[in-house]
Amino acid sequence: MTSHGNDAWTGLALVVGTGGIGSAITARLKQTCPRLRVITAGRQGPPVQDLTLNIERDADLAALGESLVAETDELRLVVNATGRLHGSDLVPEKRLKQLERRALLEQFSINAIAPVLLARTVESLLHRDRPFHFASLSARVGSISDNRSGGWYSYRAAKAAQNQLLKSLSIEWRRRWPLATVTLLHPGTTDTDLSKPFQTFVPPDKLFTPQRAAEQLVEVLLAQTPEDSGAFLAWDGQPIDW
Ligand SMILES: NC(=O)c1ccc[n+]([C@@H]2O[C@H](COP(=O)([O-])OP(=O)(O)OC[C@H]3O[C@@H](n4cnc5c(N)ncnc54)[C@H](OP(=O)(O)O)[C@@H]3O)[C@@H](O)[C@H]2O)c1
Repeated sequence: MTSHGNDAWTGLALVVGTGGIGSAITARLKQTCPRLRVITAGRQGPPVQDLTLNIERDADLAALGESLVAETDELRLVVNATGRLHGSDLVPEKRLKQLERRALLEQFSINAIAPVLLARTVESLLHRDRPFHFASLSARVGSISDNRSGGWYSYRAAKAAQNQLLKSLSIEWRRRWPLATVTLLHPGTTDTDLSKPFQTFVPPDKLFTPQRAAEQLVEVLLAQTPEDSGAFLAWDGQPIDW
């Protein structure tokens, strides 16, 4: 889309999660949609992010809802760029023996439950006669039909659950908010903290910089229309099988 076309994007955009991809998406949106005011939310809060939000906490989501209601600009776009694959006590499983209830719950909390509760938080700001986009970062490994190598039980399952939750959301919103568009995005393997430990076998030309991933994702996202709502798309705009 041309920058001229992107002038139609006015109002407020919220990017939740300013890790590698979230920060780059924020920068790209500011660059390509000059009439959009882009704000960020995350656990660190000001001055790193505009709003403080632990997306796994109900009280934080409620406070976010109140902050957005107080905004004078109309909410036009929300991008969820949070997610977790590994952590100090979280390692993607290679085999069943490594699977733990605690890790399953943690993965579902951030990668499945958080995105749909973010959508619930912003829903009261939608209007039947005004366009609104809700996009969330999923992952190709959340595709059940594309699962050929197994492993990563809890991350895969949590992303698959996110896909199902947001697919249901897209169907409900199609009826209630006909101009809303819900999109699930796979960024491609991108050089961020999340993928760092797993880049060994990724050919250099298949590893995107966050800037390149963001350019691609923003282009795909801005091209989506309400008729497309509920799509699960890769960085190149190609649909991914569920
Ligand atoms: N990188 C890839 O190759 C790749 C591939 C496929 C899909 N994805 C997906 O893309 C998304 C973005 O990943 P990334 O590569 O940009 O990873 P990243 O650099 O690790 O960023 C993840 C972000 O999520 C935030 N976050 C985690 N838990 C949170 C919470 N409870 N509340 C608020 N924020 C929270 C982190 O904030 P803190 O700084 O507070 O931890 C961080 O800003 C994820 O959903 C990931 O699954 C990435």
